[in-house]
Amino acid sequence: MCGIVGYIGDKSPTEVIMSGLHRLEYRGYDSAGVAVVNNGGLQCIKSLGKLKIMDQKLAEQPLDGKLGIGHTRWATHGVPSEVNSHPHFDMQKEIAVVHNGIIENYQELRDQLTAEGVTFRSQTDTETIAHLVRKYYQGDLFAAVKRALQDVTGAYAIGVISKDNPDLIVAARHGSPLIVGLGDDEAYIASDVPAIMKYTRKVLYIDNGQVCEIRRDGYKIEDVHGNPVQLEVKTVDWDDAAAEKEGYPHFMLKEIHQQPDVIRNTLRGRVDEGSEEVKLPDMNISVEELKACQKIVIVACGTAWHAGMVGKYLIEKFAKVPVELDLASEYRYRDPIVPEHTIMIPVSQSGETADTLEAIRIAKRLGAKVASIVNVVGSSVARESHGVVYQQAGPEIGVASTKAYTSQCTAFALFTIWMAEARGVMSKAQAKEMIAHLRAIPDKLQWVIDHKQHIIDLAALPKYRDAQSALYLGRNYNFPSALEGALKLKEISYIHAEGYAAGEMKHGPIALVTDELPVVCVAVEGDTYDKMVSNIQEIRARRGIVLSVATEGDEGIKQHSEDVIYVPSCHEPFSPIVVAVPLQLFAYYVAANRGCDVDQPRNLAKSVTVE
Ligand code: AGP
Repeated sequence: MCGIVGYIGDKSPTEVIMSGLHRLEYRGYDSAGVAVVNNGGLQCIKSLGKLKIMDQKLAEQPLDGKLGIGHTRWATHGVPSEVNSHPHFDMQKEIAVVHNGIIENYQELRDQLTAEGVTFRSQTDTETIAHLVRKYYQGDLFAAVKRALQDVTGAYAIGVISKDNPDLIVAARHGSPLIVGLGDDEAYIASDVPAIMKYTRKVLYIDNGQVCEIRRDGYKIEDVHGNPVQLEVKTVDWDDAAAEKEGYPHFMLKEIHQQPDVIRNTLRGRVDEGSEEVKLPDMNISVEELKACQKIVIVACGTAWHAGMVGKYLIEKFAKVPVELDLASEYRYRDPIVPEHTIMIPVSQSGETADTLEAIRIAKRLGAKVASIVNVVGSSVARESHGVVYQQAGPEIGVASTKAYTSQCTAFALFTIWMAEARGVMSKAQAKEMIAHLRAIPDKLQWVIDHKQHIIDLAALPKYRDAQSALYLGRNYNFPSALEGALKLKEISYIHAEGYAAGEMKHGPIALVTDELPVVCVAVEGDTYDKMVSNIQEIRARRGIVLSVATEGDEGIKQHSEDVIYVPSCHEPFSPIVVAVPLQLFAYYVAANRGCDVDQPRNLAKSVTVE
């Protein structure tokens, strides 16, 4: 997720653009750049690192002009660097583009353009857009951008300027947010409202497939078929603080709501609709290595470790490869055995967790092939691994991990299908079915979010809000769901909560059950449903407060539960991704009702870079 800003008018473009980029810094902050049209040419400054470095550069080398575009980056393709930062240019450096999104067919476009004589400067997907616009430019920038986008598949919000059009910004959107701000003899484009609220509150929310021609004194919008589009001018009434969170009270709640799109982005470019194969080229693991693999080791910490457990269940069930799952903090001190043909899969949102990094170094020394699942492009974990699956989840600001978790589980599902097919233990028909189930997940997450009012109501009840302790139970694929649900509650509401394998109740935890103990039971449809119901009955017999998470339509569970939260029916192996969302929402609203600092819980940091 990146941030784009553009401006045309009498103010200083760099001043407006940098002000806007700072308000979008939560969208990405590994590098930045600004380009302006000035004196018949394009001038550009880029920087690696935080925006304040860009501020310093612009102070030393001011850029003038009446029109410009800027970008703050969250890398998806190409490590953070000046050359990979936006804006990107055509070969003549006469057309500049800023982009937020993922171009799925960028490699194919890159190969085609290279064959046509184009020389690329960067490793990014975005640069292909600049060269495509050049390819079709015959004096009409608006027409050239429309034609270029016909070749592109994927998600984008773009701003395009050219030296020959000093009074025009062309912008377009498909899958990534884009707004146009309207001023008095001036206009703006941005990824999000916070960027321009300081200057105007009159905005147009551009929709998918729409292309805009923006001038200081007016604009034109067309759809993909070239039909004129009339959009209603909206007036934004958010305060500044709310704007960065897009109106949500906390980043965590915003990030919970982003998950349908996050899963779509994790899948983007890896599984096409109707396809029967998964593409994970960046993992840098050959089919031969997948076939020869004798053991997989998954190492991680916290929530990432819970995602790793989901991965263990999936890989062993479908790819038939033994998986050793370990807390990175334990792995590094126990002299692990790493047989030949071992693949290690570290999991880390930040890519900077000290224990996970050390585990990688040990495994590499012992000969393992390391391919990590990580969210931050160019992070230490990514750099120190042989290969990587970037989660493409965008920056996660809330300390309590939500969208990163469901994205990691999705990445494991992709890897499982890819490995199972490579090893010949999953047919193409089975793979196609599994991929279809995976692609259906985002809408199921949206269903949960759309039905969240019941969760909000439950979280306000004293029996949950004021609980001193809680148990979370699950089995099989949803044992990690129980662990993750408990971690969410404990780390943001400070209620002691433990996740347990439900089958363990008789081996101790059932001694805890009283009429004041909430027990969250994950009892969705699946192989262990009946066993879960038995566990629930045992708890109810001892007057425990059972809050069941069950499959929509399961009326029978009500007789065994004090309360029920429903989720849509889904393919059981992928149910942890769906089950995570109600558990995140429940923890969030309990914590909010307790007045806790949800985004920055006491004693916690977003990334544990020290041991
Ligand atoms: C999750 O809610 C926690 N904030 C924490 O457990 C986190 O998952 C853990 O520190 C691992 O972080 P990483 O994914 O950045 O490596």
